[in-house]
Amino acid sequence: MTDHYAVVGNPVAHSLSPAIHAEFARQTGQDLDYITLLAPLDGFAACVADFRARGGKGVNVTLPFKLEAYRLATRLSVRAEQAQAVNMLGFDAGAIFGDNTDGAGLVRDIETNLGFALAGRQVLLMGAGGAARGAVLPLLEKRPATLVIANRTPDKAHALALYFARRGKCAACGYAELAGRRFDLVINATSASVRGGPPPPLPDDIFAPGALAYDMMYGKALTSFLRFAQAHGAARIADGIGMLVEQAAESFFIWRGVRPETAPVIAMLKTQDRGSRIED
Ligand code: ATR
Repeated sequence: MTDHYAVVGNPVAHSLSPAIHAEFARQTGQDLDYITLLAPLDGFAACVADFRARGGKGVNVTLPFKLEAYRLATRLSVRAEQAQAVNMLGFDAGAIFGDNTDGAGLVRDIETNLGFALAGRQVLLMGAGGAARGAVLPLLEKRPATLVIANRTPDKAHALALYFARRGKCAACGYAELAGRRFDLVINATSASVRGGPPPPLPDDIFAPGALAYDMMYGKALTSFLRFAQAHGAARIADGIGMLVEQAAESFFIWRGVRPETAPVIAMLKTQDRGSRIED
């Protein structure tokens, strides 16, 4: 019998998740289908309940419903609890399990796919919204020398650093306070470059020798942050396509107990037309 999965969002038509999961299913011989579900902005819970009633086994959750999904889950993983956001739900008889695979996907892309070990590195995370929040714990677990969270509204970065203070070495600041600092890894978790806007205001000399610039977003063209990085001495740049595929693989693994190969799927997507933002 075919098992049913979906990605729920609004908008969701652009989602690459159905293609990714179809490829995982083909590769691992799992009997499942995976569709997009457009939920009304005020109808997320009803949409999920309906899919579950029709035999759905689980869903991925994309913007703007990650917080609602967190509230809907009756059981949460530690990382979802810490992120206060859920991007995957699994249904069984009496419970709705909520997890957050975004941060794990980010770290796996950085360490395994890009070969960049986080331990002992100077890491800068830009942003203090939902995307940044999901990344903090998985990054700290890799024991960087420092994790600095920089945000346009510094108070939000300070609140985030305080929340995770027990989990590792974590500091916060506004962009102006980055003057004179150098980082081995700079991650963009802001929505600044969405729709072609300028990147966050980083000092020109922010990248240490050999530094990696990582944008959680992706698009047909380089994001403004990655263009800035190229022009200001980053040794390597990467967009969010690898993270997108890795968070999907982590969801697939939790649902199905089988870990798919991500490299061929990342390669496939890199040669195709793409959307503009990691949102699934
Ligand atoms: P998401 O869930 O994608 O993280 P969000 O919660 O709305 O979305 O957070 C957006 C993040 O991008 C915030 O950190 C925001 O900074 P503020 O907290 O100061 O609003 C950041 N951001 C958005 N536009 C930006 C810009 N033009 N420059 C710098 N940071 C920006």
